[in-house]
Amino acid sequence: MTNRDLAVIVVAAGRGERLKSDKPKAFVEINGRTILAHSLLPITELQNLSQVVIAAPDSYLSDTIEIANQFFDEAVVVTVVAGGETRQQSIANALAQVNSEIVLVHDAARAFATTKLFTAVEEKVRNSKQAVIPAIQIADTVKRVSDEQVLETVDRSSLRSAQTPQGFITVDLKRAYADATNDFTDDAALFQSLGKKVLYVTGESNAAKITTPDDLGVVLARLNGPGRTGIGTDVHRFSEDPTKKLFLGTIEWPGVPGLDGHSDGDAVSHAIVDALLSAAGLGDIGSNFGVDRPEFAGANGSLFISETVKLLAVAGYEIVNVSVQIIGNRPKVSSQRKDAEAALSALVGAPVTLGATTTDGLGFLGNDEGVAAVASALIISAKDRLNA
Ligand code: CTP
Ligand code: MG
Repeated sequence: MTNRDLAVIVVAAGRGERLKSDKPKAFVEINGRTILAHSLLPITELQNLSQVVIAAPDSYLSDTIEIANQFFDEAVVVTVVAGGETRQQSIANALAQVNSEIVLVHDAARAFATTKLFTAVEEKVRNSKQAVIPAIQIADTVKRVSDEQVLETVDRSSLRSAQTPQGFITVDLKRAYADATNDFTDDAALFQSLGKKVLYVTGESNAAKITTPDDLGVVLARLNGPGRTGIGTDVHRFSEDPTKKLFLGTIEWPGVPGLDGHSDGDAVSHAIVDALLSAAGLGDIGSNFGVDRPEFAGANGSLFISETVKLLAVAGYEIVNVSVQIIGNRPKVSSQRKDAEAALSALVGAPVTLGATTTDGLGFLGNDEGVAAVASALIISAKDRLNA
């Protein structure tokens, strides 16, 4: 049975100055998905969820609505508010929209906290009617310092690092916000400044905050570590039909003959499709889009790629990147490399890079009989990540 009495506030209105990115932190992408989107994913699994309120930077309100709408159905009321100057002000703006009994306040920057952690906090709030935060032990020996000097070693056995989501009975948090006179770095501190009790559950390393470029590196290593690679190759012969146009990587290459094939002969797109399918263990282009499928006759490579991306998503995979190389004398790839990479990256939803080489005049490719392409793809299991 679900209670539908849970709101989650996601604060995403920070500038991300320490990340040194050209965008606010929540809109920086990791594996082709914004940090905000990553942070919403585990929230979609919460059984009692009735409301999500996101605080976003002023100029990102419509982007935020668009991202949030990809994640929640009609059963969840999604509200986007403009953030404030400080984290606390952003939360105050969001809290004004909350009318559910329990509220969890979460940093978008803790994008990989798991559903399990949200649920552990929620359940402890539900059972105790107290405030609850996730907290983890500190691994390093802790020192107190002043200027350049180490003054002393602090006993770390009773110290913990605080994380989010931090959970509260909504009316209690609203009252605390109404009474707060200082700016605090987390809600538990604000709550306790008014003499109120806060409990904790064991936090998780996944919920670490992404603050610096180094933190991003750690996240990428963890996410992409258990990746799967795939390889794909395709060859098409130059057509004798002089009216046939050349399409490679979904775009047209003027001045070079077209390629023969059941579809439009786009060896680059077909190699990419095979690389993605093989990485996911989903067969190959022939077993998925065989010549018996009339809708693929003469089809542009973009159709094959977008269908493949959907197949991988259904199978629970995210694409990390794709690399593809054309082998042949023509076309000269440098003329349209950027356009092809942009078109392919948009279709795949992850970076696609395109290179080219010749065969030193050897063989059918050296004889200019056609074009070959070789692609490799790296994918990760979205499921592994959510349950890490
Ligand atoms: N946050 C917010 N509104 C602010 C400041 C911070 O909503 N005025 C949010 C951030 O978007 C982030 C969380 O609070 O999800 C934790 O803050 P922090 O890690 O400090 O993020 P930024 O403030 O964006 O980063 P920086 O301090 O490096 O600029
Ligand atoms: Mg900040």
